[in-house]
Amino acid sequence: MISEITLATTNKGKVSEFERAFENFKIKFKAISADIFNCPETASTFLGNAMLKAQMAANITQNYALADDSGLCVKALGEEPGIYSARYFEKGQGLQKILSSLQGSSNRQAYFICALVLVNPQGQVIWQTEQKWNGLISQQIKGDKGFGYDPIFIPEGLNCTVGELEPAIKEEISHRGKAINELKSFLQFINVSS
Ligand code: IMP
Repeated sequence: MISEITLATTNKGKVSEFERAFENFKIKFKAISADIFNCPETASTFLGNAMLKAQMAANITQNYALADDSGLCVKALGEEPGIYSARYFEKGQGLQKILSSLQGSSNRQAYFICALVLVNPQGQVIWQTEQKWNGLISQQIKGDKGFGYDPIFIPEGLNCTVGELEPAIKEEISHRGKAINELKSFLQFINVSS
């Protein structure tokens, strides 16, 4: 039975999505402190980077650890920024640079990816998933909800950006929402069967 999992991220947007998703669960997620956690993301895939982060957090806390590695892939930009989404965004170029790069482009297709990896206190992977959320890049930056690239991403089937969407709706349909639902099923399964 798992009662507490260290969340291997210092991204406040991600932490609040996890906290809300598991507020009615017995399992508690405890975000790792930025003072002790700084993991170089040197893998070439989302799942690879999530594994590195989860293993480092498990090693530090000697606890079960879950990591999320996610990002935005823009088709006309050769799937960039992809695994470099965080660095690209932090440089302050994220939103405007993508809009400028797509100026005049008829292909605005994009998708978010969320990879989740759960490891045991010894760092062994016990569960993982990768989920996708398709959509289009907007013409303008719109909305102040969510985080990161939300103000320029229009999910398939909607006509507003995620920045304009209520967080509860985002969390039901997003890449992370889908990955978290898979995680909930897994955690319910092992906690019931242990
Ligand atoms: P990392 O997974 O910590 O390497 O960072 C992922 C980066 O991708 C974040 O800092 C955001 O810029 C972006 N990102 C991931 N998920 C989302 C999302 O749900 N909305 C908006 N941006 C996201």
